[in-house]
Amino acid sequence: MSSERIAVLIPGRIHPRVRSRLVDAFDLVEIDRAEDVEGLPEEVRKSIRGAAVSGRFPASLIAALPGLEMIGSFGVGYDGVDVKAAAARGIVVTNTPDVLNDEVADTTIALLLNTLRQFPAAETYLRAGRWEAEGPFPLSPMSLKGRRVGIHGLGRIGLEIAARLAPFKVEIRYHTRRPRSDVPYGYHDSLLSLASAVDTLISIVPATPETKGSINAEVLQALGADGVLINVGRGSTVDQPALIRALEEGTIAAAGLDVYADEPHVPDALIALPNVSLLPHVASGSIPTRNAMADLVADNVISWFAEAKVLTPVPETPQNS
Ligand code: DGY
Repeated sequence: MSSERIAVLIPGRIHPRVRSRLVDAFDLVEIDRAEDVEGLPEEVRKSIRGAAVSGRFPASLIAALPGLEMIGSFGVGYDGVDVKAAAARGIVVTNTPDVLNDEVADTTIALLLNTLRQFPAAETYLRAGRWEAEGPFPLSPMSLKGRRVGIHGLGRIGLEIAARLAPFKVEIRYHTRRPRSDVPYGYHDSLLSLASAVDTLISIVPATPETKGSINAEVLQALGADGVLINVGRGSTVDQPALIRALEEGTIAAAGLDVYADEPHVPDALIALPNVSLLPHVASGSIPTRNAMADLVADNVISWFAEAKVLTPVPETPQNS
C-alpha cells in the first residue's frame, strides 16, 4: 500500500466492525445515503477508490465516482449493488459467501419447525398465562414427519439446508437451473414441477430477473392445501399479494418468512394471518456470523489495495476482467 491514504466510501449504515477494521488504514468517507454523494466536494468524490456497503449501491453512485476500483458488499446477496454498471467500468464487486451458510441453514430449520409446529404461538400462550388458566396449547395440525421437501436453489446454503433436513427423514427434491451431479436428491427442471411434487417448498435463491415473482399463484396452487412455503432467500422471489391470498383462502396451509418484498415493511394482511411465522430478516443475524461477514468485507478491501486481488469476487465482476 502506498504511503498516501486511500479513500474508501461507506454509503449508509454498515456493521461497525467493517468500519473499525478499515478506519486506521484508510480515509473513510461516510455519507448517509447513496444520493448524498452529490454533496461531497469534487476532489473528495474523485479521490474515492474503494467502497464498503451494506445495501444499495446504484449505478448513479458508481457514475459519480470516477476513480472507483472495488466495492465490498456485505451479505451473500448483492442485489443492492448495480453489478452490471460496475462490470462495465471494470470495477470488482465482492460479497460474503460461505461464512453465513451454517447460520442461514440453521435458521431455516428453526423457521420450518416454528411454522409447522407453531412454537412461537405456543410460547406466547404460556407467557400470557393461558396454559395455567385455560389448559394445554392446542395440538399443531401439522408435523415435519413424512413431509416431502422441495428446495428452490441448491447452492451453497441450499446444500447445507438439505444436509440438515436429511436426519429428519423427509424426502428431499430440488430445482435449480441445471441439475447437480453430486447430490442424491430428485431434480425438477421447473419450479412448478417441483411444487407439484412436494408439500413443503423452501426458497433460497438470490434476487435476479429470473427469480423475481417466480413463486406465484400457480406455484402456490401446485403446492396444495397441505403446502408450506419457507422463504429465506429474497422477498422479491415471491408474489407477496398472491401469497397472502393463498394463505387467506387455504390454497396453501402456512408460510414461514424471513424476507419480504419491501423490507422492513411487512403488510398488515400478512401480520394478521394466524398461519404464518414471521422473522425480521435475521437468518444470518448472530454476532459471530455477522462478525465473520464484516471481516470478509474488510479483508476484501484491504487485500485489493495491498495485493490488487480480492478474496470473494462475484461472478459478474471477476477481478482479472
Ligand atoms: C445475505 O447475506 O444476503 C443475507 O440475506 C443477509 O442476512
